[in-house]
Amino acid sequence: MQNKIDQYAAEIKAFATAKADELEAFRIKFLGTKGIIKDLFEEFKTVGPEEKRTFGKVLNEFKKLAETKYNELKETQNSELTTQNSDLDLTLPGDGFNVGSRHPLSLVRNEIIDIFKRLGFVVAEGPEIEDDWHNFSALNFPEEHPARDMQDTFFIKKNNGKDDIALRTHTSSVQVRMMEHGKPPFRAIMPGRVYRNEAISARAHCFFHQVEGLYVDENVSFADLKQTLYHFVQELYGEGTKVRFRPSYFPFTEPSAEMDVSCTICGGSGCNMCKYSGWVEILGCGMVDPNVLENCGIDSNKFTGFAFGMGMERIANLKYVIRDLRLFSENDSRFLKQFTAEML
Ligand code: PHE
Repeated sequence: MQNKIDQYAAEIKAFATAKADELEAFRIKFLGTKGIIKDLFEEFKTVGPEEKRTFGKVLNEFKKLAETKYNELKETQNSELTTQNSDLDLTLPGDGFNVGSRHPLSLVRNEIIDIFKRLGFVVAEGPEIEDDWHNFSALNFPEEHPARDMQDTFFIKKNNGKDDIALRTHTSSVQVRMMEHGKPPFRAIMPGRVYRNEAISARAHCFFHQVEGLYVDENVSFADLKQTLYHFVQELYGEGTKVRFRPSYFPFTEPSAEMDVSCTICGGSGCNMCKYSGWVEILGCGMVDPNVLENCGIDSNKFTGFAFGMGMERIANLKYVIRDLRLFSENDSRFLKQFTAEML
């Protein structure tokens, strides 16, 4: 056995190759599962206890010798592969790859969520198919209110002869669900898709996206509403953006207002976007009507709140100057890929 080992050891020491297949043959011969070393270990099992001690050591050293040789040669081959192999030109430029882009509405949505999260608002979601109660009645819509009319709302199903199930026309329905199922204080925003029965054109679509917000607690005032939205606009459009509130009407808020910002395109000096007025409207807002609080089981003598709602398409329009609403849902890659840089 000693003789055999000496012979193999000499062979291993003398072995040298730069070829991958020769090295692999070496590995199979000595280190493979049916290789010489395996055989020697088998043979080792049969020797007497005296010899076991001497041969054990010799055998282990022999194994190490083969492994070291193999690893050394492998290492040199690997480094030669990367530096000298003639088939490989490391000076060639790399393959280009396409970076995906985010949809402008996702960018706007994420930005709005980020701003309100920093103010302690959470994100709430609800179903897009709603019943009359959550979309209208709980929100203090009078029975004959035109917004319930077939022209505005996609009704799906009647209950007891009356239109009941519909595609939600605003995410205020999520506010109702939140108030019904929880206890004040509430501080949340509700982003989501909403549907209105409108003819599709550059300026109107049968679905669009909203972010609404709700803040209900003790002693919430119109001053809180103004300051929250003022801060939001400074974050979204930059310091120094002016705001103004105009009285308005929504069934679910009293008082109600619409908020304008100084035109984000011309800064207020007058342009196409603001129709030369210097102002653009971005949202509706107001103090939650006490009837709405009561409809949702909240004591309106103890709690007050404010709510607001804006269209994401409108916000994106003012940020990226997208003049045709249809672009948002056509999935034209020439349009979408312009927003790549925003993602990085
Ligand atoms: N729900 C209103 C709309 O869809 C927006 C709004 C929300 C207005 C909250 C005031 C308060 O137009």
